[in-house]
Amino acid sequence: MLFRSRFLLLLALAALLAFVSLSLQFFHLIPLSSAKNAVSSKSRKRILPDPATEPPVLDPVNEALLYCNTPSVAERSMEGHAPHHFKLVSVHVFIRHGDRYPLYVIPKTKRPEIDCTLVADRKPYHPKLEAFVAHMSKGPRAAFESPFHALPLYPDHQLCEMGELTQTGVVQHLRNGQLLRDIYLKRHRLLPDGWAGAQLYLESTGKSRTLQSGLALLYGLLPDFDWAKVYFRHQPSALFCSGSCYCPARNQYLEREQRRQYLLRLKNRRLEATYGDMARLVDVPAKQLRAANPIDSMLCHLCHNVSFPCTRSGCLDLGHLRVLKAHQLDDERDRREKQLYRAYALLGAHPLLNQTAGRMQRLAEGARDEVFALYSAHDVTLSPVLSALGLSEARFPRFAARLVLELWQDRAEPRAHGVRVLYDGADVTFSTAFCRDHHQRSARPMCPLENFLRFVRRGMFESLGGAGATYHEACHREGF
Ligand SMILES: *[C@@H]1O[C@H](CO)[C@@H](O)[C@H](O)[C@H]1NC(C)=O
Ligand SMILES: *[C@@H]1O[C@H](CO)[C@@H](O)[C@H](O)[C@H]1NC(C)=O
Repeated sequence: MLFRSRFLLLLALAALLAFVSLSLQFFHLIPLSSAKNAVSSKSRKRILPDPATEPPVLDPVNEALLYCNTPSVAERSMEGHAPHHFKLVSVHVFIRHGDRYPLYVIPKTKRPEIDCTLVADRKPYHPKLEAFVAHMSKGPRAAFESPFHALPLYPDHQLCEMGELTQTGVVQHLRNGQLLRDIYLKRHRLLPDGWAGAQLYLESTGKSRTLQSGLALLYGLLPDFDWAKVYFRHQPSALFCSGSCYCPARNQYLEREQRRQYLLRLKNRRLEATYGDMARLVDVPAKQLRAANPIDSMLCHLCHNVSFPCTRSGCLDLGHLRVLKAHQLDDERDRREKQLYRAYALLGAHPLLNQTAGRMQRLAEGARDEVFALYSAHDVTLSPVLSALGLSEARFPRFAARLVLELWQDRAEPRAHGVRVLYDGADVTFSTAFCRDHHQRSARPMCPLENFLRFVRRGMFESLGGAGATYHEACHREGF
């Protein structure tokens, strides 16, 4: 009971802090430096780098709750904000799937009882939930590339299967879709009323949680869409590298990055002691417990307000989760400093960013197809893309995270196109590697498209020390 009331208090406090810091800092209502005095520095959003100050100290439990992304108050976002003389040309959306059941079980404990059926009068509510289920029940095979035919179009198990999308996950993406609908369709008329299938580009990895997340977002964006106009492509690789996945140098960077991660873990005595304590509670060797990635399950308990599992020797608790999460945050900090991950990310994210750059260029030259592109993906997709774009300060992708690239045309100067980048609703355009300097030099409201194209085609490899190199050359470079 004590746990419950403390948990509730924490949840409420974190939500309040997150909301205050979001309103104050994301939307520049007050400058960052005074925001820090107004709100506890622990709650600071870590999206905008502030090299003048110490790295912020983040509270692990608060960070864990932000990761849950529990649907609550209506979200404010900066998507679609542009001066009147700009016309919206296209929108490119990269999402992480919504809330899911854990991928691992903590050995010798009861797994959390979470219901993965969709029920309109169960929290979190969404007015379109029933209509979504009804519409999905009519989904024809022709709307999907072949490996998807075996997948259900919405979650439907009384006890969730491993990795299954939950009702929370569906609601998160229905809300994402609705938010994008209000901004891009209603306000900016990105699609005409009788839109054509060719105006959409939809791609998902082969997991049910990504496909279902993509469908929920699409349904929020285009309620009761015409199935005949919808086609989901299948992407076998979590990096969305399509035909360009072979890249030995990328794999080498990843191996060195994993070694860094391993060495950092060994140095953390508190973490080792915590694993030891947890292993004693559930009565398995510490190694076995660590391999079961207990933080994944514990986050599920936290996000769903289900008490942590107990055994005869005692219970896992918030203290354990705090240490595990604190280590994750340390690891992210170390990862930024060592730069190995960034090298991996530049090569890993190139094919996807290159595809996006190509699509933007075609649209800027007058093409009218694929004005809305949706990639339904994973944390291991979004993380490298964020890092490659130079957004290394961005938070680890939470459930239902969204990264949006917007392409605009200047009506006053029709050949000039601008790009905006938004992460979970925050405008991060001028924090990207390709537009950081632009901000200081000019008063333009967005980043020139050329900056993005130059970065993707050349700049990405220059940061790897290979000026003038192509993707293929950078992937086959030796002796770094
Ligand atoms: C968490 O669970 C408790 C007891 O089961 C319940 O009273 C409370 O309303 C729940 N909190 C939230 C935020 O759903
Ligand atoms: C990049 O995109 C262009 C088309 O815009 C394509 O011709 C080229 O093969 C792509 N390169 C890679 C490495 O994906």
